[in-house]
Amino acid sequence: MQVAVVGSGYVGLVAAACLAEIGHSAVCIDNDSEKIRALQRGEAVIHEEYLPVLLERHGGRRLHFTTSLADGVRSSSIIFVAVGTPPSETGDADVSSLESVCVEIARHAEGSQLIVVKSTVPAGTNQWIRRVLHRNNGNGHRFDVASNPEFLREGTAVTDFLYPDRIVLGCDTETGAALLNELYRPLLDGSYAAGDEAVPVPDCAVLPARAIVTSSASAELIKQASNAYLAMKISFINAVANICEAGDADIEEVVEGIGSDRRIGSRFLKPGIGYGGSCFPKDLLSFRAVSRELGYDFRMLDEVMRINEDQRRRFVGKVRRALWTLKGKRLAVLGLAFKGGTDDVRESPAIAVIRSLLHEGCEIAAYDPAATARARTAFDPKAAIRFVESAYDAAQGADALLVLTEWEEFAALDLQRLRAQMRHAIVVDGRNVFSPESMAKAGFQYISTGRSEKMQDAHNVIQSTDAAA
Ligand code: UDX
Ligand code: UDX
Repeated sequence: MQVAVVGSGYVGLVAAACLAEIGHSAVCIDNDSEKIRALQRGEAVIHEEYLPVLLERHGGRRLHFTTSLADGVRSSSIIFVAVGTPPSETGDADVSSLESVCVEIARHAEGSQLIVVKSTVPAGTNQWIRRVLHRNNGNGHRFDVASNPEFLREGTAVTDFLYPDRIVLGCDTETGAALLNELYRPLLDGSYAAGDEAVPVPDCAVLPARAIVTSSASAELIKQASNAYLAMKISFINAVANICEAGDADIEEVVEGIGSDRRIGSRFLKPGIGYGGSCFPKDLLSFRAVSRELGYDFRMLDEVMRINEDQRRRFVGKVRRALWTLKGKRLAVLGLAFKGGTDDVRESPAIAVIRSLLHEGCEIAAYDPAATARARTAFDPKAAIRFVESAYDAAQGADALLVLTEWEEFAALDLQRLRAQMRHAIVVDGRNVFSPESMAKAGFQYISTGRSEKMQDAHNVIQSTDAAA
């Protein structure tokens, strides 16, 4: 099939590359000409596992890039829209880019096309899109509009797309549902996964993927409610982690106990400094606003957001308690991205924590395996932050080391070498990347998340006694 994808961001680019991978011809459209030129040169532009492989495999063959919406739209039977829907000042999603893209599509369409919304949108958006398309199409073409929300996570976006838990097809017509079923057939019948060149199947994948056909309104709600539920799980476990710290419990043990109940499940129960990224913060605000508009006061979402904000403040409090005063302290920071495996710093809790510490007068040396270039622009050039090339460079002369992003490579650091670089062997771990045992063994005072303060103190006393001996 010939497919167009408007918006070549994290979602649109991955979707287009994966659609090419399962056998379709895809044209990726974006109004950012610099980005399109980079993509035409074969540059991945975002840090995403397997994306370079797919661009190499299909770029210039089944996958093309253009700034011309008119060209892309004319030749395609399905047009995906994946432009951003950022929060407005009131919390509602700003769908103005979506609207202008639909006006353009309506002007350039030359046949009956299926317009598929991939952007996360407030409930009811599809109805508006239908109206906008018909109002702006002078040629009397008929448009079918469907909602096909994307559940991919940054960092594992390609495998999430190719091996999804489900594919939600929000279609109000049978022809729309038939077209999308045909588009996704290689994923729904398992033929893509069985191919010799398929991207490796992740351990937890359930094959083949299942299609869930719903109305477009239900599909919109499935996306918003899924993100809100996942964010709620994270805030819930962060609240439990705070209770563990105040009592005698260890959150890692508690999570194992809770998560082994299959009704709950162990995923998305990692405590830390809270969720960030381009989706959860924005989607929670938007879902809250939509519910209010529809006459339901969904106050639980306020609490989810409040706990999330509070988690960052609590972390800064831990750093303060470990160091007594913050002004003039040199801190090593590991992690700038909003989570491990990505270069994205949008709404990153790590950046928020660093801003608070800079405000308190700390000097920071920060390291991230992929997000440094994007993070640099988030700070005033005169701010007391240096970006360095390795965790060991960051640790040089530091009064304490802070872990703010859950990158796997941090867990594999040589702890003795790290300690040797530091002025004081103190680690405040906002993501529980290390274990208290390994930290104590390496001679660190270790403060982590959701572990009884008494228990951590006991470890730290043992460590300092050992060191004295
Ligand atoms: C996507 C979704 O679209 C968003 O609704 C969802 O909640 C998160 O994922 P994402 O891919 O992360 O957003 O956004 P971004 O990386 O900002 O990409 C959007 C792209 O659309 C950008 O490359 C931007 O240049 C492009 N764009 C935007 C257009 O081509 N035309 C426009 O009018 C507006
Ligand atoms: C999320 C949704 O998972 C995805 O389905 C949707 O399409 C887009 O939004 P993403 O934002 O890429 O994906 O990342 P995700 O892995 O969900 O993590 C979001 C945030 O939650 C990160 O800051 C991460 O560090 C945090 N998180 C995640 C936790 O703090 N604990 C967890 O257990 C899981």
